[in-house]
Amino acid sequence: MSSFSNSPIGIIDSGMGGITVWAEITRIMPYEDVIYWADTAHCPYGGRTRDEITALVSVGVENLLERGAKIIVIACNTATTAAIATLRQRWKVPFVGLEPAIKPAALTTQSGVVGVLGTAYTVQSEMFRHTMAKYAAGINVMAVAGNGLVEEVENETENSPRAVALLHQYIDPMLESGIDKLVLACTHFPLLTPSIREVIGERDVEIINPAPAVARHTHELLVEGGMLADRAGDGRYTFLSTGGADDVEHLRMRAEHYKKSINETSRG
Ligand code: DGL
Repeated sequence: MSSFSNSPIGIIDSGMGGITVWAEITRIMPYEDVIYWADTAHCPYGGRTRDEITALVSVGVENLLERGAKIIVIACNTATTAAIATLRQRWKVPFVGLEPAIKPAALTTQSGVVGVLGTAYTVQSEMFRHTMAKYAAGINVMAVAGNGLVEEVENETENSPRAVALLHQYIDPMLESGIDKLVLACTHFPLLTPSIREVIGERDVEIINPAPAVARHTHELLVEGGMLADRAGDGRYTFLSTGGADDVEHLRMRAEHYKKSINETSRG
């Protein structure tokens, strides 16, 4: 058995949100080929049923498997919550999912109050209740559905006064209750970080974005499975969208722009 694989990593999201995971994966594994599949034509997923989401994500999985994906990252909390158990039953390829980062928030909170901002689907799900019961006993978790925020990101209006007003509506009650951690439980939301910071102001609240941890976990699985690429240069990046060619270009540009912005932030 070979101990490497030059097949691509597949990433799926309902739209732009997964680029926050794409950026971390390509940052720590620049030698990997990565294919990003965005279901732009059906975004947002947050108000859909479990069966709808499972059927839509399955189209993406099939597409990525036809292109030889060696691992598939469901870079969407909503799709993970709705579909990952079914996907794991249906296909043998390893799947990585996105779950609200309640555990690190609960372990490090000083105030004992943690905010979670996700889609309606995610924060109302059984999986979410289960994660809270498991990791956040004794912690006050304020979970809020950030309705309308995915659309702001998709429309590139995430820094608009309307987006900031929506964020005030969702985050102000958390701030009043004394949160010191804000978990971003939707992969679109890290793209709102400048607006979220504006809403938080000077208060000492840590914003928790699980994307770097997901990228590290993906790396670990590839190492364990002997599936890292064996390539001297950089990998190739492919973007696919159910929304058509314009959306593909758009995704590529935003992905590169976001990656540049996090590189600059991490350089400090
Ligand atoms: N990025 C998806 C998530 O993490 C957005 C969901 C949606 O399309 O509503 O939940």
